[in-house]
Amino acid sequence: MQGGTIEWRKNTLEHQLKTEEITLLRRTGLSNSKQAVCTLRRLLLSDLHQIMQLQERIVRALPDKNLFYPDTADFYISMINSSKNLVEGIFFNGKLIAFSLLLIPDSLDYNLGVDIGLSQEDLSSVAHAEMIFVDPAFRGNKLQRFFLKRRIEYASDNGYFIILTTVAPSNKASLNNLRKSGFKILKPNVIKYGGMLRHILQYQPIIEKSSETKQESAVDCDKVRIL
Ligand SMILES: CC(C)(COP(=O)(O)OP(=O)(O)OC[C@H]1O[C@@H](n2cnc3c(N)ncnc32)[C@H](O)[C@@H]1OP(=O)(O)O)[C@@H](O)C(=O)NCCC(=O)NCCS
Repeated sequence: MQGGTIEWRKNTLEHQLKTEEITLLRRTGLSNSKQAVCTLRRLLLSDLHQIMQLQERIVRALPDKNLFYPDTADFYISMINSSKNLVEGIFFNGKLIAFSLLLIPDSLDYNLGVDIGLSQEDLSSVAHAEMIFVDPAFRGNKLQRFFLKRRIEYASDNGYFIILTTVAPSNKASLNNLRKSGFKILKPNVIKYGGMLRHILQYQPIIEKSSETKQESAVDCDKVRIL
C-alpha cells in the first residue's frame, strides 16, 4: 500500500519537474552574449526563496508602487500547493528570471467572476491569469505575452473557459501586452487588493488579427523544446 503512495508521489514530482529549454533573444543583460539559453519549468516549494528574491528585485525597480501588488510567501506557498494552478518560472544559470501564475480560484472570496456578475454555474469555469513578473535585465523578450499564451492554453485544456485578470490602469506595459493577447477591459477602475485601482479584463480571442499573434517574438519558438 505504501508503495502505491510512493509511486504516485514520484509521478507527481516527475510531472512538476518536466523542463523546457527556451532561448531568449534580446536584452539579456549579459555583457558578452545577446542570447540566453534558459530553462522553463513548474515551480516547487523549494523555489520559494528565489521567487521572493525576484519579487523584491521587481518591486525595487518599479517606477510607481501602484503598478504591481507584491504578495507574501504564504500566498506563493498556497499557489504552489494547489495542483490545479499553473505556477511556472524561467531560470538562467540557475537563477529565476521570470515568474508566471495561472490561478484556479477555489473560493468565491477572490473569484473575479463575482466582480463581473457571473452566474453561479459560470464561476466554476473561471481561471485567473494572475501574476507575471520579469527580471528587469531580461525584459524586452515579450515574456508576458509568451506566458499569457501558455496560460490561456492550459486553462482551456483543463475546462476553464472564462479567463480573467486585473491590471493597474497606469501599467502601460502590462495593459498593452494583455490587449495584444486578446484581453478586453470588462470593468474599468475597480478597487481591489485592499485599496488598489485595477481594471478587470477577460480573454476574448481575436479571430481576424492573426498578424498580432504572429508578430515578431523575442522568444525563439523553434528553440523551445521539452527536455
Ligand atoms: C509587465 C512585464 C511583465 C512585461 O515584461 P516583458 O514581457 O519582458 O515586456 P517587454 O519588455 O518584452 O515589452 C513587451 C511590450 O510592452 C511594451 N512596454 C514595455 N515597457 C513599457 C512601458 N514602460 N510603457 C509602455 N509599453 C511598454 C513594449 O514596448 C512591448 O510592446 P510592443 O511589443 O508593442 O513593442 C514587466 O515589465 C514586469 O515584470 N513589470 C513589473 C511587474 C508587473 O507589472 N507585472 C504585471 C502585473 S502582475
